[in-house]
Amino acid sequence: MIVVAGATGDLGGRIVQELVRLNAPVVALARGGASAEELAASRADVRIVDFDDERSLTGAVAGATCVISALSGLEPVVIGAQGRLLDAAVRAGVPRFIPSDFAIDFRKLPPGTNRNLDLRKRFQARAEQADIRLTSVFNGAFMDMLTGTMPIVQHPIRRVLYWGSADQPMDFTTIADTAAFTARAAMDDTSPRALNICGGRVSARDLAEIVSKVHGRRYRVMPAGTVGSLGLVIAVAKRVAPGKAGEIYPAWQGMQYMRNLFAGEGMLDAPFDNDRYPGMRWTRVEDVLLQDARR
Ligand SMILES: NC(=O)c1ccc[n+]([C@@H]2O[C@H](COP(=O)([O-])OP(=O)(O)OC[C@H]3O[C@@H](n4cnc5c(N)ncnc54)[C@H](OP(=O)(O)O)[C@@H]3O)[C@@H](O)[C@H]2O)c1
Repeated sequence: MIVVAGATGDLGGRIVQELVRLNAPVVALARGGASAEELAASRADVRIVDFDDERSLTGAVAGATCVISALSGLEPVVIGAQGRLLDAAVRAGVPRFIPSDFAIDFRKLPPGTNRNLDLRKRFQARAEQADIRLTSVFNGAFMDMLTGTMPIVQHPIRRVLYWGSADQPMDFTTIADTAAFTARAAMDDTSPRALNICGGRVSARDLAEIVSKVHGRRYRVMPAGTVGSLGLVIAVAKRVAPGKAGEIYPAWQGMQYMRNLFAGEGMLDAPFDNDRYPGMRWTRVEDVLLQDARR
């Protein structure tokens, strides 16, 4: 039995669907509300839990072979709620835990370069002291973001922006592929401490070529500054537009992810684990951009 927390979320919901497709017994944890009602349509066993109450959590994860966390938030969620989930899993004797990492390899990041990933690093230090086996899935950036959220492909001017070097490789994997792989990793009793998956490792120059091919028009790379200058922009943006309290992705936070990518920080260790499970098909950058172009 696999338990998924954060099952009402984007990644968590897809992990639940994949586990159902793989015929794994799956328990989807939710804290109630409309999104939990939607979850009821899946074939998962939906359990409403209070993430502030460790007894409620312990009961909900009892009997699981693996607990997957796909929670998303700031300190109260990544350290707080996820920490209580971890403690509950340990208390219930669950053998394995997959934390809500799903990122570039933040273990390699200099501290202070990415607020959200620093929280995951902090959680990791705590989880590594717990009596449970951990598997982190490192997938780079979600490839889906190349169609908008990560605004480096600028269609109106047919340019692909970059900071530092246009040849810096960056790792991308779709949300769907990350979910499909994570579901399989949860069912794999031999999964190691870290799994690295990558749908495409591309530079800004590669991206320009791919977008040109997809759109049948020439896109060129365009320097937006040095990695250091992006750091300065982040520092200013943090002051003038810090975002609302509790906001997970204010603009400056998005820029911190981009700076990590363009600085080559947190690149995934090769060889990747893409071929670990049979039946996985990996979406390429060209597939995502082509799908976007057809919309
Ligand atoms: N590598 C990348 O480029 C990338 C990009 C985006 C996300 N991610 C990572 O992927 C993971 C999942 O993100 P996502 O985008 O799928 O998140 P999401 O769609 O925002 O879903 C977040 C989930 O966490 C739950 N949650 C939030 N606060 C909670 C709390 N206090 N107690 C209990 N549950 C709580 C939400 O429940 P409710 O429905 O009840 O609110 C929801 O199920 C995160 O680790 C995130 O950092 C990676």
